[in-house]
Amino acid sequence: MDKIKIKGGRRLEGKIYISGAKNAALPLICASLLTKDTVTLTNMPMLSDIASMNALLRQLGTQIDEFNDFVDGHPSKTYSYRTAEASSLTAPYDYVRKMRASYYVLGPLLARYGHVEVSLPGGCAIGARPMDIHLSALEQMGAKIEIKNGYIIADAPDKLQGAHIAFHTASVGATCNIMMAAALACGTTIIENAAKEPEIADLAELLNAMGAQISGQGTSTITIEGVSALSGARHKVIPDRIEAGSYAVAAAITRGKIELINAQMQTLQNPMQILRDAGVKVSETPNGILVDAINAKLSGQDIMTDYYPGFPTDLQAQFLALMLTAEGASMVTETIWENRFMHVPELMRMGANINVHGHASAIVRGVKKLSGAQVMATDLRASFALVLAGLAAEGETIVNRVYHLDRGYEKLEEKLKGVGADIERIKEADELAAE
Ligand code: UD1
Repeated sequence: MDKIKIKGGRRLEGKIYISGAKNAALPLICASLLTKDTVTLTNMPMLSDIASMNALLRQLGTQIDEFNDFVDGHPSKTYSYRTAEASSLTAPYDYVRKMRASYYVLGPLLARYGHVEVSLPGGCAIGARPMDIHLSALEQMGAKIEIKNGYIIADAPDKLQGAHIAFHTASVGATCNIMMAAALACGTTIIENAAKEPEIADLAELLNAMGAQISGQGTSTITIEGVSALSGARHKVIPDRIEAGSYAVAAAITRGKIELINAQMQTLQNPMQILRDAGVKVSETPNGILVDAINAKLSGQDIMTDYYPGFPTDLQAQFLALMLTAEGASMVTETIWENRFMHVPELMRMGANINVHGHASAIVRGVKKLSGAQVMATDLRASFALVLAGLAAEGETIVNRVYHLDRGYEKLEEKLKGVGADIERIKEADELAAE
């Protein structure tokens, strides 16, 4: 398996281009299943999660064409998706196991074909990941759902019917799935306590361009008037706010200065305010966001994850790593996932001072220095937190299990090298040759 080798202690300075958002792109790809026409997505990030979703759609009978493109002067991918007729209505375990966002095929296929079978995703490193909200909402829309042999088997032979649905939790995945299902249902669907994440507004924008009638996206009440058919559209994926927030921490943790090209301040208000409160200069530029921590003396900050527009759980590990280099104590509280401090024991191996209380909170005390070590993480964002600690640490850090990073950070080494990091990927083959 590939590894990342970092020699820490360098101040990072320059510009990093922020790619299209993974968590926007995944449901957008699945929205293409709602029509027989072509849906073209531009500004697509080159990530293994996108490749996994594309493989699943090909298996369902979607024809996918891939183009090398330039968006805002930067290379990216454009994909065209055409599902004239699905050749399968099953998302098998082997696909769902690799990427749980495979559940996004549930809503679109059920709405278009009246039948779908999706393997249940099961738990994962950050905790149990239930699907009760997705399934209960589909049942309220008239679907018959059965769990058999590890699969969700859903039927709606007489079409899904609009319904008034109140989610018990503002789930991102369920909001996307039900918006897609309701777009082709009979009548009006209202989702109360919908998630408000920017990726949801992006999906609504594509669906509306395809002919859907959705309003209220970005608020906690979304209304969807079902239509009988949707057509093709072309759509540009929004910039990745989590990637932007991660590189903002790279600037802060190395006391450097990075302009995050294309990053959108309005989607990052809460984490950028925490950086400011900690002592980092953060400003909006004509091209994105400038994060300037040169000569900054950082002070510890309390952080609590929350639903958007609160502090994103997907930036918790990165900000926790930053707080190790701040003066004083910080309390980091995780409210979304029950098991999201797996980066802590690895950071301790680098000299961190962290006390985890139960599953939900950690007290982080700033340390004089971190020192490089061999580390590995069990999820994507935790892996990036280890890269960040490695950038700030004295000596060499080797981050194992790089496949997690490849799921969500496009051209990670290239981007960090471009701002002065001493970072390289050790390919498995090189490693074997060296042994
Ligand atoms: C998405 C993101 C993930 C992020 C998460 C929260 C994608 C591909 N992934 O995941 O990176 O960490 O939002 O911002 O976009 N829940 C239930 N029942 C359900 C569904 C969810 O109880 O049926 C709970 C979950 O256990 C969790 C909370 O709701 O505590 C939020 O989960 P959800 O927003 O659904 O996360 P995902 O969409 O899976």
